Amino acid sequence: MLSTDQCSHIRTFIIPHGLKLLLQTQKSRTITIVVRVQKSDAAFFKEGFHKAKGILQHNHYRTIFNGITYKRTVPSRDFYIHQWNWDSATHAMGLVHLDPARAVDELRALISGQWKNGLIPQIIFNPGETKYFPGPQFWGTEKFRKGEILSSGITQPPLLGISAEHVFKTATSQHIAVKHGEEILSGVLKYHDYLKTTRDPEDSGLLTVVHPWESGTDNSARWDKLLGKIKIDKIPQGIKEVVDLYRVDNKLKGPAQRPRQEFYYRAMYLIYLFKNLEWDYKKIVKESPFAVKDILFNCLWIRSNEALANMLNALGRKKDAERYQVWAVQGKMALEQTWSNEFKQFCDVDVSDNKQEVIVQPTNSMFAPLLAGIPDQKQLNKILVRLHDRNQFWSEYPVPTMALNSPFFDRSKYWRGPSWPITNLFIIDGLARYPLNKKASQLRKLLVEKTLRMIVKNDFSEYYDPVKGSGLGFGNFSWSAAIFIYLFRKYKVGGLN
Ligand code: GLC
Repeated sequence: MLSTDQCSHIRTFIIPHGLKLLLQTQKSRTITIVVRVQKSDAAFFKEGFHKAKGILQHNHYRTIFNGITYKRTVPSRDFYIHQWNWDSATHAMGLVHLDPARAVDELRALISGQWKNGLIPQIIFNPGETKYFPGPQFWGTEKFRKGEILSSGITQPPLLGISAEHVFKTATSQHIAVKHGEEILSGVLKYHDYLKTTRDPEDSGLLTVVHPWESGTDNSARWDKLLGKIKIDKIPQGIKEVVDLYRVDNKLKGPAQRPRQEFYYRAMYLIYLFKNLEWDYKKIVKESPFAVKDILFNCLWIRSNEALANMLNALGRKKDAERYQVWAVQGKMALEQTWSNEFKQFCDVDVSDNKQEVIVQPTNSMFAPLLAGIPDQKQLNKILVRLHDRNQFWSEYPVPTMALNSPFFDRSKYWRGPSWPITNLFIIDGLARYPLNKKASQLRKLLVEKTLRMIVKNDFSEYYDPVKGSGLGFGNFSWSAAIFIYLFRKYKVGGLN
């Protein structure tokens, strides 16, 4: 540390980034000072853009199924070496700004794994890849395979419709849109029809999620009580042995950053139950001990229905558009009912064993309704207070998955505290739906910038310590790169592009 006196003897220079200087004091003692001059914003973000492009290139994966070549992006070559449903939807939203044809390929590759009944699985497996657990041999879904294409048996948050709308709005080449537009659109429509029929049999307006992996926010504390009903000692020993033997994510990365082993026992137990029910979702939705109306999943469902209606209207298919518009409105009306005045948030609903029990946890899923335009002005104000509160969600690197002042907050454990670019994207796009006052629009702008800086400064990681900003999980992650590109382009950060 230099005293003020010493400082006054140091001459100031304009110093290039990161240069190490030796400066002489008057008393001719040598002091080494490392000066880090902030790179100009323009250079910083441009470099980020370049890196993001490189990561998406690195994670590009070609494979041939049934004689057709598919080009897709794997989330990370270090572990997630297959194709994930909502990751790919996100990849396409970034890729379209670099190479529209590749964005279209990404969506086509995802839809290639669609089951006859319309389900678009959580994972489409790449052949011969063994790094990831649970791989294709653990699902028992062979009878649903399309030729050579193997997949898991559950789904993920339905971001696909939103992604398709963004891709077709942004793609400059009409040719691309016309060539594959119909193929993609009909795949997504079929997926929505499947979701509505199997996941909302009671026509409540909201879909039921039957596995924590379907929620996309796997080990969120929102699910603790539900999962707790599955007693570890009741889980067949063979399932636990398989997990102990084959699970690798916690060996590749520190266990402190990954879900607990008990979470995996329960997750695999649910897969075992569903396999025994032969993947018949009429039965699964009724019998699964994990059955929940998840707010994040349902807000994407609502917004995706709006996106489908927009696309159909643009194609002059007004009658078809109505069907999805109705589902969007029905979903909104049902989701509005989950607002708790007492807790000032929208809540998930546990619908297992025929019950309707509200789940109140202060996770950042409470902001998802913004994306579907659900909160009214009063609710918006209340939500914004929570978002901007330094004790709750406005950490140094926002937005943590769990409120900082919750006893469940754990800053490095997966969906139990860390900040994830994907949930930030939903909050940012959600806020963009609203006419905001000056303070709120400033907050949104700041969140965009903070998200981009967090991603670039920390190696495009999977998720981030919300206090220190350090990268957690696997690095060079595709959706962090795609989200960087999407936000950078959409929100024209610093007027740079
Ligand atoms: C993890 C995440 C999930 C994501 C997948 C691939 O399982 O919880 O949301 O889709 O990784 O990135």
